[in-house]
Amino acid sequence: MNKLVGTGAGLFAALLLAGTALAQSSNGTIVQGRALLEANCARCHAIGQDGASPHETAPPFRVVVTLYPPESLAEALAEGIVSGHPDMPEFVFMPPEIEAIIAYLDSLMLAPDVSPQKD
Ligand code: HEC
Repeated sequence: MNKLVGTGAGLFAALLLAGTALAQSSNGTIVQGRALLEANCARCHAIGQDGASPHETAPPFRVVVTLYPPESLAEALAEGIVSGHPDMPEFVFMPPEIEAIIAYLDSLMLAPDVSPQKD
């Protein structure tokens, strides 16, 4: 009984947190970030809540955000993300684009049904 109450409170806190973070970035920003990833990354990476990456070794972004906090990816995006992907072209994004991408990745991470899946 106590355990059930505890779980409920945790979920509620998680929902509150998600609400706060989403409120910080407008939906328009998130949509723009998704469009940028779709244009530049989606031919190799799965960028949504499900589906496998088109490139077999490229991790889906819903997995990337569990490995690297979006804020640390922001730096990589600004400096040109190259690190150890022989198959991946170098990308450099402008600050407003990075903000949009991070907003989208944040929303991906906070979505309730995100769970790293085994392929
Ligand atoms: C041409 C294919 C291709 C494209 C386009 C591509 N990637 Fe990748 N990406 C890869 C591959 C392959 C890997 C896995 C590399 C590895 O395991 O060494 C990867 C890995 C990554 C990783 C994980 C890095 C790590 O060190 O674990 C990140 C983050 C990433 N990509 C971001 C992006 C972003 C952001 C874009 C779009 C701006 C993008 N990628 C576009 C192929 C691609």
